[in-house]
Amino acid sequence: MDEKRTPPPVDYAERAPRAPEGAFDLPGLFASPGEIEIDVGFGRGASLFARAAVAPEARVLGIEIKTKWATKVHERARRLGLDEIRVLAGDARDILARAEPEGCVRRIFVHFPDPWWKKRHLKRRVVGDEFLDAAARLLVDGGEMFIQTDVPDRAEIYRDALLAHPDFVLAGPDGWLEENPYAAPSNREDRAAHDGLPVRRLLGLRRSRDEGPASGG
Ligand SMILES: C[S@@+](CC[C@H](N)C(=O)[O-])C[C@H]1O[C@@H](n2cnc3c(N)ncnc32)[C@H](O)[C@@H]1O
Repeated sequence: MDEKRTPPPVDYAERAPRAPEGAFDLPGLFASPGEIEIDVGFGRGASLFARAAVAPEARVLGIEIKTKWATKVHERARRLGLDEIRVLAGDARDILARAEPEGCVRRIFVHFPDPWWKKRHLKRRVVGDEFLDAAARLLVDGGEMFIQTDVPDRAEIYRDALLAHPDFVLAGPDGWLEENPYAAPSNREDRAAHDGLPVRRLLGLRRSRDEGPASGG
């Protein structure tokens, strides 16, 4: 009899690449040294692969909470032999807070972090104090925090959060950038460009540790 069988569902939660328990050595995730960059919530992963292509010196860690995308992008990177890409599944706030050592990351990209853009979902947002505290600990002095979104009021909220944080300053006169300077567009960025949606882009810099805490303003 010609029985058609549906393959069993893939257990992505089981297969997804996970961070080690507790504190872990972030540079040790990579086979060779380089400038560490982190792509937070990479979704389908276009920005990770594009960044690895244009910045061969970069060691790019992608962190994605959806186990399906984390697994697919991880397996694709392994298939392509891209040792400069590492993927971890989980909440970026938790993973960054456990990564060591302090000051080992050059850049953090947060491309379109707004799956829940309604006002009542504001509390779920990734870019808040907990995230910025963990990011500031990991970034080198002068390290870059790049955030872009097509949700205009969220862009203002992220800018206010960077401004209010004692370890960040805005780049340039006001933090806003016209273009993505990293030549590695994300999937949502490509779609926004295709649909003609305006995108707001923001660059914050990790304040030098020698300066001491911000005096406010
Ligand atoms: C709107 S999508 C953008 C995806 C991709 N960055 C892009 O620009 O195409 C937001 C992504 O962030 C992920 N995300 C949301 N909260 C997260 C968290 N706490 N840690 C890691 N990823 C998260 C979501 O699963 C989703 O893939």
